[in-house]
Amino acid sequence: IIPVITIDGPTASGKGTVAHRVADQLGFHYLDSGALYRLTALSALRRGTDLADEHALAKLAEHLQCSFQGGDIILSHENVTEAIRAEAVGNAASKIATFHAVRHALLGLQLGFRKAPGLVADGRDMGSVIFPHAALKVFLTASVAARAERRYKQLIAKGISANMDDLLKDLQARDERDTNRAVAPLVPPQGALVLDTSEINAEQAVAQVLAWYAA
Ligand code: CDP
Repeated sequence: IIPVITIDGPTASGKGTVAHRVADQLGFHYLDSGALYRLTALSALRRGTDLADEHALAKLAEHLQCSFQGGDIILSHENVTEAIRAEAVGNAASKIATFHAVRHALLGLQLGFRKAPGLVADGRDMGSVIFPHAALKVFLTASVAARAERRYKQLIAKGISANMDDLLKDLQARDERDTNRAVAPLVPPQGALVLDTSEINAEQAVAQVLAWYAA
């Protein structure tokens, strides 16, 4: 049986970095499930699909022509690695992620990432819905202030100007929507070990996850 490690948590909690590094260390595959919601959102924005049309959005999700090649994300032959990281795409992703039909349409695609020798899956519902029998479930959190600061640094490093007040508001709105939605709300899944990264760096978080997995 192929082991899965799930890493769930709120926006900018450092999940992506930690999950990626844990996967590298173990030689496991890596699933960035948020990218699938972002790809669906990007598709919808480009086609002018109504972001409230659950049925149309689910169709888009179901027929997503995407592939993950090394660090690159390809959508219908186009490299959209950068494009899907735009804040507008993230906000649209969090809106369409509230629809059950959209989440259901992305289920098979996500399960397909589970391949030998193992998988590290990063998202909001990896341990609760997609891989409920995971070998290890981690819930990564950090204070709103710590997460806003991380997001700020990420944007500045990319040469994108950012405003701390706007980032804080955006984070809180995203948290609010992800936590209070009816489908797959963001809460620590049953059996998850909670890791608060407000005061520790990525390296220390990776070491903790690996130690838990080895135990
Ligand atoms: O980096 P950030 O946390 O902002 O975003 P992400 O992980 O790329 O996910 C984008 C959006 O997709 C989130 O705001 C969630 O609403 C949604 N999502 C989800 O509902 N379930 C997942 N497994 C992953 C992402």
